[in-house]
Amino acid sequence: MPHIQVIQGSTRDGRFSDNVVDWVHQALKARDGVSVAVTDLRDHPLPFLDQGSPARSPRDYKSGEIAAFAQTVDRADGFIVLTPEYNHGYPAVLKNAIDHAFVEWNRKPIAFVGWGNVGGARAVEQLRAVAVELEMAPVRRSVHILPSVMLPIMKGERDAATALPQLDPQLDLLVDDLLWWADALAAARGRDAVAA
Ligand SMILES: Cc1cc2nc3c(=O)[nH]c(=O)nc-3n(C[C@H](O)[C@H](O)[C@H](O)COP(=O)(O)O)c2cc1C
Repeated sequence: MPHIQVIQGSTRDGRFSDNVVDWVHQALKARDGVSVAVTDLRDHPLPFLDQGSPARSPRDYKSGEIAAFAQTVDRADGFIVLTPEYNHGYPAVLKNAIDHAFVEWNRKPIAFVGWGNVGGARAVEQLRAVAVELEMAPVRRSVHILPSVMLPIMKGERDAATALPQLDPQLDLLVDDLLWWADALAAARGRDAVAA
Protein backbone atom coordinates (compact mmCIF):
# COMPACT_ATOMS: atom_id res chain seq x y z
CA MET A 1 0.00 0.00 0.00
CA PRO A 2 1.60 3.33 -1.01
CA HIS A 3 2.13 5.80 1.79
CA ILE A 4 1.60 9.41 0.67
CA GLN A 5 2.72 12.43 2.66
CA VAL A 6 0.91 15.72 2.23
CA ILE A 7 3.39 18.46 3.15
CA GLN A 8 1.97 21.80 4.22
CA GLY A 9 4.56 24.24 2.89
CA SER A 10 3.63 27.46 4.69
CA THR A 11 3.90 28.19 8.40
CA ARG A 12 2.95 31.84 8.84
CA ASP A 13 0.04 33.08 10.97
CA GLY A 14 -3.26 33.06 9.11
CA ARG A 15 -1.91 30.86 6.35
CA PHE A 16 -4.20 29.97 3.46
CA SER A 17 -2.77 26.46 3.39
CA ASP A 18 -5.01 25.58 6.35
CA ASN A 19 -7.89 25.81 3.87
CA VAL A 20 -6.21 23.49 1.39
CA VAL A 21 -4.84 20.72 3.57
CA ASP A 22 -8.11 19.02 4.53
CA TRP A 23 -9.35 19.04 0.94
CA VAL A 24 -6.22 17.29 -0.34
CA HIS A 25 -6.08 14.94 2.64
CA GLN A 26 -9.69 13.84 2.10
CA ALA A 27 -9.11 13.29 -1.65
CA LEU A 28 -6.34 10.83 -0.81
CA LYS A 29 -8.27 9.16 2.01
CA ALA A 30 -11.11 8.51 -0.46
CA ARG A 31 -8.80 6.26 -2.50
CA ASP A 32 -8.72 2.55 -1.69
CA GLY A 33 -5.42 1.05 -0.65
CA VAL A 34 -3.64 4.32 0.10
CA SER A 35 -2.09 5.32 3.40
CA VAL A 36 -1.92 9.08 3.91
CA ALA A 37 -0.46 11.45 6.49
CA VAL A 38 -0.10 15.21 6.75
CA THR A 39 3.22 16.83 7.62
CA ASP A 40 2.88 20.36 8.92
CA LEU A 41 6.23 22.15 8.85
CA ARG A 42 5.15 24.00 12.01
CA ASP A 43 5.61 20.64 13.75
CA HIS A 44 9.19 20.42 12.41
CA PRO A 45 11.05 23.48 13.70
CA LEU A 46 14.32 22.79 11.91
CA PRO A 47 17.40 25.06 12.21
CA PHE A 48 18.52 26.87 9.09
CA LEU A 49 20.73 24.23 7.52
CA ASP A 50 24.01 24.32 9.46
CA GLN A 51 25.58 20.99 8.51
CA GLY A 52 27.17 19.30 5.52
CA SER A 53 25.15 18.04 2.59
CA PRO A 54 22.79 15.20 3.54
CA ALA A 55 23.64 13.75 0.11
CA ARG A 56 27.20 13.10 1.35
CA SER A 57 26.26 11.59 4.72
CA PRO A 58 22.96 9.79 4.24
CA ARG A 59 20.74 9.35 7.29
CA ASP A 60 23.38 10.80 9.63
CA TYR A 61 21.04 12.96 11.66
CA LYS A 62 22.50 15.72 13.84
CA SER A 63 19.43 16.19 16.03
CA GLY A 64 16.15 14.60 16.95
CA GLU A 65 14.26 17.30 15.03
CA ILE A 66 16.18 16.57 11.84
CA ALA A 67 15.71 12.82 12.31
CA ALA A 68 11.97 13.24 12.86
CA PHE A 69 11.52 15.20 9.64
CA ALA A 70 13.86 13.11 7.48
CA GLN A 71 12.38 9.83 8.71
CA THR A 72 8.91 11.14 7.87
CA VAL A 73 10.16 11.67 4.32
CA ASP A 74 11.88 8.28 4.32
CA ARG A 75 8.65 6.43 5.16
CA ALA A 76 6.75 7.93 2.24
CA ASP A 77 6.29 6.53 -1.27
CA GLY A 78 5.14 9.87 -2.67
CA PHE A 79 4.33 13.46 -1.78
CA ILE A 80 1.83 16.20 -2.43
CA VAL A 81 3.38 19.53 -1.50
CA LEU A 82 1.03 22.42 -0.77
CA THR A 83 2.78 25.67 -1.65
CA PRO A 84 2.05 29.36 -1.74
CA GLU A 85 4.10 31.75 -3.82
CA TYR A 86 6.21 34.36 -2.01
CA ASN A 87 7.87 36.96 -4.26
CA HIS A 88 7.58 34.63 -7.24
CA GLY A 89 9.22 31.75 -5.39
CA TYR A 90 8.24 29.10 -2.88
CA PRO A 91 8.62 29.59 0.89
CA ALA A 92 12.07 29.53 2.46
CA VAL A 93 10.78 27.29 5.24
CA LEU A 94 9.92 24.69 2.62
CA LYS A 95 13.35 24.83 0.94
CA ASN A 96 15.09 24.56 4.30
CA ALA A 97 13.08 21.46 5.15
CA ILE A 98 13.74 19.92 1.72
CA ASP A 99 17.51 20.45 2.10
CA HIS A 100 17.61 18.52 5.38
CA ALA A 101 17.19 15.21 3.54
CA PHE A 102 18.38 13.69 0.29
CA VAL A 103 18.30 9.91 -0.09
CA GLU A 104 14.99 9.99 1.76
CA TRP A 105 13.46 11.85 -1.25
CA ASN A 106 15.19 9.86 -4.01
CA ARG A 107 13.22 7.94 -6.65
CA LYS A 108 9.81 8.97 -5.36
CA PRO A 109 7.07 10.96 -7.09
CA ILE A 110 6.05 14.44 -6.00
CA ALA A 111 3.04 16.56 -6.99
CA PHE A 112 2.11 20.13 -6.19
CA VAL A 113 -0.93 22.17 -5.23
CA GLY A 114 -0.26 25.91 -5.40
CA TRP A 115 -2.19 29.13 -4.92
CA GLY A 116 -1.81 32.82 -5.58
CA ASN A 117 -2.21 35.36 -8.37
CA VAL A 118 -1.13 32.78 -10.96
CA GLY A 119 -2.10 29.79 -8.86
CA GLY A 120 1.40 29.44 -7.44
CA ALA A 121 2.62 28.39 -10.91
CA ARG A 122 6.03 30.07 -10.56
CA ALA A 123 6.63 28.43 -7.18
CA VAL A 124 5.56 25.04 -8.53
CA GLU A 125 7.86 25.28 -11.56
CA GLN A 126 10.81 26.09 -9.29
CA LEU A 127 9.94 23.15 -7.05
CA ARG A 128 9.87 20.81 -10.04
CA ALA A 129 13.49 21.73 -10.81
CA VAL A 130 14.47 21.12 -7.18
CA ALA A 131 12.70 17.76 -7.26
CA VAL A 132 14.75 16.60 -10.25
CA GLU A 133 17.99 17.38 -8.38
CA LEU A 134 16.62 15.24 -5.54
CA GLU A 135 16.24 12.37 -8.07
CA MET A 136 12.47 12.57 -7.76
CA ALA A 137 9.73 12.23 -10.36
CA PRO A 138 7.66 15.44 -10.41
CA VAL A 139 4.31 14.55 -11.98
CA ARG A 140 2.97 16.62 -14.86
CA ARG A 141 -0.40 17.39 -13.32
CA SER A 142 -0.72 20.08 -10.69
CA VAL A 143 -3.53 22.05 -9.11
CA HIS A 144 -3.46 25.84 -9.23
CA ILE A 145 -5.85 27.72 -6.98
CA LEU A 146 -6.44 31.04 -8.72
CA PRO A 147 -7.74 34.26 -7.12
CA SER A 148 -11.27 33.58 -8.39
CA VAL A 149 -11.38 30.61 -6.00
CA MET A 150 -8.92 31.80 -3.37
CA LEU A 151 -10.08 35.35 -2.64
CA PRO A 152 -13.71 34.55 -1.71
CA ILE A 153 -12.33 32.00 0.79
CA MET A 154 -9.80 34.50 2.18
CA LYS A 155 -12.50 37.16 2.55
CA GLY A 156 -14.80 34.72 4.31
CA GLU A 157 -17.38 34.98 1.53
CA ARG A 158 -17.12 31.28 0.75
CA ASP A 159 -16.26 28.22 2.74
CA ALA A 160 -13.20 26.26 1.56
CA ALA A 161 -15.11 23.00 1.99
CA THR A 162 -17.60 24.06 -0.69
CA ALA A 163 -15.37 26.28 -2.89
CA LEU A 164 -12.35 24.03 -3.40
CA PRO A 165 -14.29 20.99 -4.70
CA GLN A 166 -14.80 22.85 -8.01
CA LEU A 167 -11.16 21.87 -8.55
CA ASP A 168 -11.80 18.19 -7.78
CA PRO A 169 -11.33 17.12 -11.44
CA GLN A 170 -7.79 18.55 -11.46
CA LEU A 171 -7.00 17.11 -8.05
CA ASP A 172 -8.29 13.67 -9.07
CA LEU A 173 -6.00 13.63 -12.13
CA LEU A 174 -3.05 14.68 -9.99
CA VAL A 175 -3.77 11.90 -7.48
CA ASP A 176 -4.15 9.34 -10.32
CA ASP A 177 -0.73 10.29 -11.67
CA LEU A 178 0.93 10.38 -8.27
CA LEU A 179 -0.38 6.94 -7.28
CA TRP A 180 0.72 5.40 -10.60
CA TRP A 181 4.24 6.64 -10.05
CA ALA A 182 4.20 5.77 -6.35
CA ASP A 183 3.36 2.13 -7.14
CA ALA A 184 5.85 1.90 -10.01
CA LEU A 185 8.74 3.46 -8.14
CA ALA A 186 8.05 1.55 -4.90
CA ALA A 187 8.30 -1.69 -6.91
CA ALA A 188 11.53 -0.53 -8.53
CA ARG A 189 13.03 0.52 -5.19
CA GLY A 190 12.00 -2.87 -3.81
CA ARG A 191 13.86 -4.66 -6.60
CA ASP A 192 16.94 -2.55 -5.90
CA ALA A 193 16.76 -3.45 -2.21
CA VAL A 194 16.58 -7.18 -2.99
CA ALA A 195 19.54 -6.93 -5.39
CA ALA A 196 21.68 -4.98 -2.89
C1 LIG B 1 6.04 37.50 1.64
C2 LIG B 1 4.90 37.31 0.68
C3 LIG B 1 5.12 37.42 -0.66
C4 LIG B 1 4.08 37.17 -1.57
N1 LIG B 1 4.35 37.16 -2.90
C5 LIG B 1 3.41 36.70 -3.74
C6 LIG B 1 3.75 36.42 -5.11
O1 LIG B 1 4.85 36.61 -5.57
N2 LIG B 1 2.78 35.91 -5.91
C7 LIG B 1 1.51 35.65 -5.45
O2 LIG B 1 0.69 35.16 -6.21
N3 LIG B 1 1.17 35.91 -4.17
C8 LIG B 1 2.08 36.40 -3.31
N4 LIG B 1 1.77 36.64 -2.00
C9 LIG B 1 0.39 36.48 -1.56
C10 LIG B 1 0.11 35.02 -1.20
O3 LIG B 1 -0.37 34.35 -2.35
C11 LIG B 1 -0.95 34.95 -0.09
O4 LIG B 1 -0.51 35.70 1.03
C12 LIG B 1 -1.20 33.52 0.36
O5 LIG B 1 -2.17 33.55 1.38
C13 LIG B 1 0.07 32.85 0.88
O6 LIG B 1 -0.17 31.53 1.32
P1 LIG B 1 -0.12 31.21 2.89
O7 LIG B 1 -1.22 32.06 3.51
O8 LIG B 1 -0.40 29.74 3.03
O9 LIG B 1 1.22 31.61 3.42
C14 LIG B 1 2.78 36.89 -1.08
C15 LIG B 1 2.57 36.81 0.30
C16 LIG B 1 3.61 37.00 1.17
C17 LIG B 1 3.37 36.83 2.65
